[in-house]
Amino acid sequence: MSNSLSFNVAPGGQLQGRLRVPGDKSISHRSIILGSIAEGETLVTGFLEGEDTLATLAAFQAMGVDIERSATRQVRIQGVGLNGLQAPEKPLDLGNSGTSMRLLSGLLAAQAFDVTLIGDASLSKRPMKRVTEPLALMGARIETTTAGTPPLRIQGGQALQGIDYTMPMASAQVKSSLLLAGLYAQGHTCVTEPAPTRDHSERMLKGFGYAVRRQAQGAAARICLTGGGRLQGMNIDVPTDLSSAAFFMVGAAIASGSDLVLEHVGVNPTRAGILRLLWDMGANILLSNTRTVGGEPVADIKIKASSLRGIRIPEAQVPLAIDEFPILFIAAACAEGETVLTGAEELRVKESDRIQVMADGLQAIGIEAQVTPDGIIIQGGQIRGGRVNSHGDHRIAMAFAMAALRAQAPIEILDCANVATSFPNFVELAKTAGLQLETQA
Ligand code: S3P
Repeated sequence: MSNSLSFNVAPGGQLQGRLRVPGDKSISHRSIILGSIAEGETLVTGFLEGEDTLATLAAFQAMGVDIERSATRQVRIQGVGLNGLQAPEKPLDLGNSGTSMRLLSGLLAAQAFDVTLIGDASLSKRPMKRVTEPLALMGARIETTTAGTPPLRIQGGQALQGIDYTMPMASAQVKSSLLLAGLYAQGHTCVTEPAPTRDHSERMLKGFGYAVRRQAQGAAARICLTGGGRLQGMNIDVPTDLSSAAFFMVGAAIASGSDLVLEHVGVNPTRAGILRLLWDMGANILLSNTRTVGGEPVADIKIKASSLRGIRIPEAQVPLAIDEFPILFIAAACAEGETVLTGAEELRVKESDRIQVMADGLQAIGIEAQVTPDGIIIQGGQIRGGRVNSHGDHRIAMAFAMAALRAQAPIEILDCANVATSFPNFVELAKTAGLQLETQA
C-alpha cells in the first residue's frame, strides 16, 4: 500500500450537522468470524467496509466460505459450521489488522489443516506471544519469529484441551482468541481478565446461541465456555463505531461554535471510557434515543463545544478507552491545565507506539508532552500548526486532523493511507462536517 497520502488541514472552523460514522470494527470482524463457523445463513447489516474487516472477510472466503457483499453494506454469509472451513491455498494476508491475526490464531489453531498468517510492516512487528503461549497450553502448535512476531505458522490437526487462564494484560483480543479456540477444545475454557475489556465476543456468541458464562471477580471477570456446541446463523445489525465517532466528538468539543449529532453509535459500557473521560474534562455530550440493537447498546450522541480541563485518567478506564487515546490527547492539548495518563503501556504496541508518536506529533505542533514509561503528561496550550508523521497509524492521522480545528496555522499529516483500515470515508465526512481538509497523494 502507498504510504504517500498526506492530509493538509487548514486551521480553524467548527463541526456541524448530523453524521453517521461507519460500522463498528470489532463487531464487524466478529460477525464474519462467527457467521462463517455458524450453521445456516448470517446477514450482517451496517458492516464496516474498512481494509481491516475486509481482510477478515477475504480470509474466510479463502477458506471456502461463501460470503457476498451488497452495495448497501450488507454482507450475507453462508456458514459452514464449526468444522467446515477448508485449507486456504496460500498464506492469509491480514494487512494491518491485529484483531484479525489474534482472533484467527485461536480459531485456526483448532482446524484440521495448516495455515500461515502474515501481515503488513506494522502488524509484522506486533507481539503475538500473548496469544500463542496460552494457545500452546491448550495444545496448539503455532510458530512465530524468535521475536514473537508474525508470520504465524499454525499446524493443524491438534486436539485442544480447555484451560483456565488468567491474562497478564487486559486484552479483548487475547480473551476472544482463547474463547474461539475453546469452541473446539475438550472441556471448559475459562479466561480471567485483570480488568474489564470489550465484551463483543461474549455478546455475539450468545446471540449465535452459544452458552457463555461470566462470573464477576472483583472489578473484573472470568469468562467460560464449553467446547463441542454449535452456532446458529442470525441477523446482525452493526452499530456505528464509537472509536470512529470519538474523532468527531472531540473535534466538536474543542471547536468553538460546534454542534454535532452522531447517529446510531455503539455505547457498550466496555467501550465507553471515552465518554466518561470527556465528561470528566467538562465536555458537553448528551446521549439520547438509547436502545439495544442486536444485543449491543446504541445511542445518538450530541456534542457542543465547551471549555475542557485537564484530568488525571483513572487507570481502570484505560482498557475501556484503549483505542481513543490519540484523540483524547488532542482534547488534553486543548484543555486548561495538565492531563496525566498512567498504566497505559499497551499503547506502545498498537498500530504504532502511540505514546511516543503522539508525543512527537504534539511537540511538533507546539504542545508540551512528556513521555513516561507507561503513559504521558500533556500540558494544555495553544496549538500552532506544523508537520506531523502518523507513522501509518490510522488513529494518529485522524486525531491530528481534528487538532487543526484549534490550530493557528495549517497541520500537515504524513502517511495517512491507513485511515482506510477503519474509517474509509473519514475525509469525506470530516469535510461535510466542516473540517478544511485536503489530501495529497
Ligand atoms: C480489539 C481489542 C483491542 C483494541 C483493538 C480491537 C478487539 O485490543 O485495541 O483495536 O476487537 O478485540 P486489545 O484487546 O489487544 O487491547
